[in-house]
Amino acid sequence: MIIVTGATGNLGRRIVERLLERLPADRVGVSVRDPRKAQDLADRGVRVRQGSFDDPASLVHAFEGAEQLLLVSLDRTGEECVTGHRAAIDAAVKAGVGRILYTSQMGASHDSRFQACRDHARTEDLLRATGLPWTALRNGFYAASALLFLEAARHTGDIAFPADGPVAWTGHDDLAEAAAAVLTDEGRFEGPTPPLTGPAALDFDAVAGTAAQATGRPFTRTVVPDDAFREQALAHGAPAPIADLMLSIFAAARNGEFADIDPTMAELIGREPATFRTLLGHAWAE
Ligand SMILES: NC(=O)c1ccc[n+]([C@@H]2O[C@H](COP(=O)([O-])OP(=O)(O)OC[C@H]3O[C@@H](n4cnc5c(N)ncnc54)[C@H](OP(=O)(O)O)[C@@H]3O)[C@@H](O)[C@H]2O)c1
Repeated sequence: MIIVTGATGNLGRRIVERLLERLPADRVGVSVRDPRKAQDLADRGVRVRQGSFDDPASLVHAFEGAEQLLLVSLDRTGEECVTGHRAAIDAAVKAGVGRILYTSQMGASHDSRFQACRDHARTEDLLRATGLPWTALRNGFYAASALLFLEAARHTGDIAFPADGPVAWTGHDDLAEAAAAVLTDEGRFEGPTPPLTGPAALDFDAVAGTAAQATGRPFTRTVVPDDAFREQALAHGAPAPIADLMLSIFAAARNGEFADIDPTMAELIGREPATFRTLLGHAWAE
């Protein structure tokens, strides 16, 4: 059985749907915080068990019988994040899981300027230390994150951010399909995969051009100094750690940490991954 955590979230849910196209439902299980949100999966024959990363005993039960377990990373940063991941990895070992897969991120490194990539590197170390077979899916930066950043600019037409660098923005649907392909071809990757990316790396200058093409409206790109951006974020009510986290994304992008593009995604999904233009067009059409 393949068990997926975070299966009521944006990525985990899509991964389960792609797995159900490839496997009978009784070979798929989910570990979710709130089983009521996965009732439709239970109705389709998927094994649904309650599992919280804050309750290790629940995870051991939820992971029981997993030949492969896909851990979807927590939406937390720093120690709180790594503690949750450690609890899940320990539970997987206790439950006798055969292989652990983990949604890491391209650029995962102890030296990254982006906190989340340092957390992913620490989690990959924990996986390595289990002695079990493991795979880290080095997911490209979510295009959905860029679209969240662009929400104000969508209306004002001005993309006002700190200096950045090219980022291989990647769609959730492609990442989910790639994860399902790796899960159903066990052992294809040992340890970290190559970066699983969209087809091009765009900085926000290029994004302004893409937004203009997609909408037929002009978009400008204004470079805001880091300090001023931080002040603006705080003034809009962002807590200081979130403002710093956002700044660290720009710093890492300037450092080229998300610039690589790689053919592995296209090989896994059997077609070219979605362009940022397509993803922006779909999102902004809604
Ligand atoms: N590659 C990138 O660019 C990038 C960007 C942003 C985030 N990420 C990472 O990718 C992950 C998945 O992305 P996503 O879009 O699917 O995010 P999401 O929709 O926020 O999903 C996060 C999932 O984690 C679950 N979760 C949170 N706390 C939990 C806990 N204590 N115990 C068990 N489950 C818990 C949530 O459960 P509920 O459904 O019950 O809420 C949800 O299903 C994120 O959590 C984050 O670590 C990657």
